[in-house]
Amino acid sequence: MSKPGIKVFAPASVANVAVGFDILGFALERPGDEIIIREGTAPGLIIKEIQGAHGRLSVDVMKNTAGYSAYKLLEHLGETQRPLEMEIHKKMPFGSGLGSSAASAAGGVFAVNEFLRTGLSKMEILRFAVAGEQIADGAWHADNVAPSLLGGMILIRDNESLDLKKLPLPQGLHVCVIYPHVQVLTRESRGILKKEVDFQDVIRQQGNLAAFVASMYTSDFEMMKRSLKDILVEPQRAHLIPLFYEMQRLALEEGALGFSISGAGPSMFALCDNSLIAEKIGEKAGTLYKAAKVEITVYISRINQEGAVVC
Ligand code: HSE
Repeated sequence: MSKPGIKVFAPASVANVAVGFDILGFALERPGDEIIIREGTAPGLIIKEIQGAHGRLSVDVMKNTAGYSAYKLLEHLGETQRPLEMEIHKKMPFGSGLGSSAASAAGGVFAVNEFLRTGLSKMEILRFAVAGEQIADGAWHADNVAPSLLGGMILIRDNESLDLKKLPLPQGLHVCVIYPHVQVLTRESRGILKKEVDFQDVIRQQGNLAAFVASMYTSDFEMMKRSLKDILVEPQRAHLIPLFYEMQRLALEEGALGFSISGAGPSMFALCDNSLIAEKIGEKAGTLYKAAKVEITVYISRINQEGAVVC
């Protein structure tokens, strides 16, 4: 009898978190992708089925973030001829700024790693997940993939070596994510960024990043509120998002600790020190965008500490 398959869940994530472009990100509880791996009938890994992608993802392992991350692990293990079948269930929107391609990349490599019982840790397979996501936007950065795989709020000291740290989470921290149904492609959203930035702005951004990290260690919500400001990237991307500044003003009025763009957008996030504020911001977003006839989806979540799991 063939070995039963395995199903894993890999969550969406919020990258950049206002102060850490390409080096900071956290995982959400929902949404996320599900990946199933089972034994195949012919040598090599194939993608048997993709659901929820409306034909927009390739079933070619080399062109699919889940397939490629899994393939890189198999290559590392010397097992590329192992007969394996993958099923991908996309349960989150594309081009939303919620790390959709990263969730698939993290889920793909994690599923194979669990199925084969390789004994490799999540940290040891992270590199393959980053390689998987790289085929989506062409850049090597782990600020979505690392939280999706490892869970938590992840600070990356160095993307190349994947030297990173999971930060402690203050009690009560919640997030309201607002996803307006317009598509922003990461590749394009990265392409519009200036290559040079003002030295004084870098100093301010560094201060904010350092203070934000300190506030996570000390549960100092006042300092978090003062520091969650994106001086470098938000002003360059805000125009891609309908009513961004109106929504930011509403969220801050409701008591958000900070409000900015989730990853490359168009999703936005508000970090809050309790769930009631997060819910209230979600309601305000509903009213604002309904009046503007822009469809949105709101996710209220804690920061997901587990990351990818077998489900
Ligand atoms: N740090 C990345 C960006 C996240 O903002 O472009 C999206 O992949």
